[in-house]
Amino acid sequence: MDMGIKIGVLASGRGSNFQSIIDGIKEGDIDGEIVMLISDKADAYALERAKQIEIPIEVVSRKEFENREKMDARIIEILNSQNVDLVVLAGYMRILTPELIKAFKHKMINIHPALLPSFPGLDGQIQAFEHGVKVSGCTVHFVDEGTDTGPIIEQTCVRIDDCKNAHEVAEKILPLEHQTMRKVVSNLSKGKYVVEGKMVRYEKD
Ligand code: GAR
Repeated sequence: MDMGIKIGVLASGRGSNFQSIIDGIKEGDIDGEIVMLISDKADAYALERAKQIEIPIEVVSRKEFENREKMDARIIEILNSQNVDLVVLAGYMRILTPELIKAFKHKMINIHPALLPSFPGLDGQIQAFEHGVKVSGCTVHFVDEGTDTGPIIEQTCVRIDDCKNAHEVAEKILPLEHQTMRKVVSNLSKGKYVVEGKMVRYEKD
């Protein structure tokens, strides 16, 4: 039986974007399976979500390793042992080493809670609120060597000028993240994107 693409997920926290991929698979929207969840935090709620449906988990925490290179080498080893086709950073709050990025060029995606290239790095929602922008949203992009600079696959926008604080911005954007993540992973599982430099084109049937 064809199980579709093999997906490895890296998450540091709550894992609601990870959950959106689980739901997309369950509902037949994503042609694939999650073969591994890796977290750098032993208490990440994402791990609980994985355990509930028996997705294999690995905790790879920074303190177990001499340096970042060794930590990421372990992550590459785990992902390769599972032959993953796609790596999803779903709220993985660490800067990756160039080795890990190179190992999965155009096979690793990240979700960011702002409209890149605006407000890269940490706390995109706070940055957007404090800047006073009227529209924000989320971006799913391939990971390259920069911080949130890789080819943009999909973006979803929303007005945020009715939000009273950054928390409200985050709450408004989160459901859009889930939709966008699920849509992108679904399209990737069906081989729908072509990358040409910075451009990612969606190929219709
Ligand atoms: C999401 O808002 C995601 O966009 C953000 O962390 C949150 C994780 O939530 N990621 C980043 O800021 C990456 N720089 P989740 O654990 O519920 O998916």
